[in-house]
Amino acid sequence: MSDIRTLGEFIVEKQSDFPHASGELSSLLGSIKLAAKIVNREINKAGLVDITGSVGGQNVQGEDQQKLDVYANDKFKAALEARDQVCGVASEEEDEAVAFNKELNRNAKYVVLMDPLDGSSNIDVNVSVGTIFSIYRRVSPVGTPPTEEDFLQPGHQQVAAGYIIYGSSTMLVYTTGNGVHGFTYDPSLGVFCLSHENMRIPKDGRIYSINEGNYIRFPLGVKKYIKFCQENVPEDDRPYTSRYIGSLVADFHRNLLKGGLYLYPSTATHPSGKLRLLYECNPMAFLIEQAGGLASDGQNRIMDLKPTELHQRVPFFVGSTNMVRKVESFLEMYPDQE
Ligand code: AHG
Ligand code: MN
Ligand code: MN
Ligand code: MN
Repeated sequence: MSDIRTLGEFIVEKQSDFPHASGELSSLLGSIKLAAKIVNREINKAGLVDITGSVGGQNVQGEDQQKLDVYANDKFKAALEARDQVCGVASEEEDEAVAFNKELNRNAKYVVLMDPLDGSSNIDVNVSVGTIFSIYRRVSPVGTPPTEEDFLQPGHQQVAAGYIIYGSSTMLVYTTGNGVHGFTYDPSLGVFCLSHENMRIPKDGRIYSINEGNYIRFPLGVKKYIKFCQENVPEDDRPYTSRYIGSLVADFHRNLLKGGLYLYPSTATHPSGKLRLLYECNPMAFLIEQAGGLASDGQNRIMDLKPTELHQRVPFFVGSTNMVRKVESFLEMYPDQE
């Protein structure tokens, strides 16, 4: 029992990593932890209670909104508002950024950007889903409502980021810029326990993760890279293995542990790809770099991109350093769109 370290204990222990933030960031991460437990409880019951399926409308992304998208969005928002450390949130499921109006919230220093339920189309078929979060210090003055500028900061300004994976077990993985740490939820105790301290992604991997159904629409460099992965070159450990769940969190988590590359390129019909820079790519980019890997849009470091709008999409290549470099070199070598 003595060597169990809970997420709460670990965060307090690491507080000195934030000399200027004292307990604020701990309290903020505490609200994320609480909402994660509530969402986890509901996801575990999906199929038994009336929580699966669509709400019958679309979100601002033009996607069918699932009941659990809305549920998770509400729970994370409520938990973040309750603790007074956050002045506003932006979410995949909200058209505009939401400002919290209580005075205590207006005096808060942080904004949170989130994908409350990632992979939501997988929920009805009992496949892993997740939550992704990204935390910034506001740039607008404390005491005023947050502004667009607070939410459109480049990824390298993140102070913390992480995800929860509701998988065969539930885990919370986060970084505050001092490595990546993973905690597994023990439902009987109701606590997240440290299980993966200082996670590192192997520099080389042999898993590639992409929705190959879109092959015909991919840029030429990506098509050539896929063929490279499939070539029979035993001395280079090829062909690689293809693994694609369709939940970014789950695909990312596997590749983080085993080494690999996740790709969501531009396509002929979606020139900026599908994934959202602020809710999906930036937080995953922060995590992967902290774990020793890379995240790129094919040419540029994801965390150096200057966001221009809240729901901006971007091509995304994330994973083992040498695999990201390799796909970038293919895109440079074959610059044609198709
Ligand atoms: P979300 O459920 O938050 O809208 O995200 C879905 C994303 C991501 O989780 C996944 O990797 C990707 O969409 C899958 O897209 P395809 O179905 O086009 O492969
Ligand atoms: Mn969605
Ligand atoms: Mn998502
Ligand atoms: Mn989502």
